[in-house]
Amino acid sequence: KMDLKHQCVKLNDGHFIPVLGFGTYAPQEVPKSEAEEATKLAIDAGFRHIDSAYLYENEDKVGQAIRSKIADGIVKREDIFYTSKLWVTFLRPELVRPGLEKSLKKLQLDYVDLYIIHNPMALKPGEELLPKDEHGKLIFDTVDLCATWEALEKCKDAGLAKSIGVSNFNRRQLEMILNKPGLKYKPVCNQVECHPYLNQSKLLNFCKSKDIVLVAYSALGSHRDKKWVDQSSPILLDDPVLGALAKKHKRTPALIALRYQLQRGVVVLAKSYNEKRIKENMQVFEFQLTSEDMKVLDNLNRNFRYVTFDTLIDHPNYPFSDEY
Ligand SMILES: NC(=O)c1ccc[n+]([C@@H]2O[C@H](COP(=O)([O-])OP(=O)(O)OC[C@H]3O[C@@H](n4cnc5c(N)ncnc54)[C@H](OP(=O)(O)O)[C@@H]3O)[C@@H](O)[C@H]2O)c1
Repeated sequence: KMDLKHQCVKLNDGHFIPVLGFGTYAPQEVPKSEAEEATKLAIDAGFRHIDSAYLYENEDKVGQAIRSKIADGIVKREDIFYTSKLWVTFLRPELVRPGLEKSLKKLQLDYVDLYIIHNPMALKPGEELLPKDEHGKLIFDTVDLCATWEALEKCKDAGLAKSIGVSNFNRRQLEMILNKPGLKYKPVCNQVECHPYLNQSKLLNFCKSKDIVLVAYSALGSHRDKKWVDQSSPILLDDPVLGALAKKHKRTPALIALRYQLQRGVVVLAKSYNEKRIKENMQVFEFQLTSEDMKVLDNLNRNFRYVTFDTLIDHPNYPFSDEY
């Protein structure tokens, strides 16, 4: 059971990623200090993969939590798999390394295990994370994502990121990177929204065919942050089918939703700032769904997306218009 807790899959660059990751994003109204406490609880509970981003404005707290668990002898740096993300105001190639260095400085770490392009939709560079014009509309930037990718490759070569990947890319955008002349490193992953209502089966098959790991975010039905999610959207964990499977396995709907991803070869993130639920989510390694259960869960798909980035729908790189 002990080694099951730290199950990993091999990435296409030879590094290993733990299949269960701890999500650290919380809405603005949640005090940032909670990110530190929750990350410590997560490491104590057995999480070894931690997902954050420059955008989340908590990397100082998450870094503090990691460093304090290292100082206490609970883990070594090499036991932790830490992901950061290049925010979209840093997509111009000359801003990539400075963007990563900003994160490392907040983290007080020498390297990240994984650095991913947060989103393909570039915004105007500058101090503002979400730069807006006088009408409140987001200001787009035009960037060649292949040039951005080459700058990420240089960060890997410099040892600042062990692995590099992407997030919120569609199939066409992934293919653009994969087909880039002179590609040095393939993306190791594409981190996308994925749960029983949006199971991403086509994108998953495409990623598997290219040895790219699909990392699932909002696997529990999302943070439902007013800033990003329509408040009238259905509540995933209230789904009666998830409820029935939870009852059958004497687990919870959240555990069914997480286990579903592991059994289809998806690396899954789970965010919680609550001690009881952080510990509960580690139980994903303690039971198995049958192939019948998996079919029932597959049938819940309705291509329903919680995080639509609808204020960016006119962006030339808006990723979610294509079929996948
Ligand atoms: N790349 C991207 O663009 C992107 C976008 C969104 C998210 N992400 C990443 O993915 C992570 C996870 O996604 P998410 O933040 O949307 O949240 P999520 O993992 O779908 O979780 C949603 C909510 O479920 C609750 N929860 C957790 N465990 C539970 C359990 N066992 N039973 C019942 N409820 C439970 C949590 O609330 P409590 O805290 O109250 O437990 C949490 O707010 C984020 O934290 C972030 O790291 C990335």
